[in-house]
Amino acid sequence: MKVEIGAVDTLPRDRGIRVTLGDDRIAMFRIGDEVFAVGDRCSHAEASLAEGEVFDYEVECPRHGSAFDLRTGKPLALPATKPVPTYEVVIEDGVVFLLWEES
Ligand code: FES
Repeated sequence: MKVEIGAVDTLPRDRGIRVTLGDDRIAMFRIGDEVFAVGDRCSHAEASLAEGEVFDYEVECPRHGSAFDLRTGKPLALPATKPVPTYEVVIEDGVVFLLWEES
């Protein structure tokens, strides 16, 4: 399913936004002209990654500080050891769409 999120210019640059689709909570981040989407629940103890600080292509979990690569979902720092899911994002004519399938 292709879900319209909004104009890329309306997404904040320095923090994430949270999108809820079905049972999935998804964190989306604008990095320059790109947008990335990962599972919002940290794989360590489910803190919201949308509330984390963003550095380049990484988000830092606000609870215990694990960092995740926004491109792959892989953890880059302990205590998290498992990746978070990633979601495909497309931008068409300045509008961001999330490709999502209900699980
Ligand atoms: S909840 Fe994210 S590192 Fe612990």
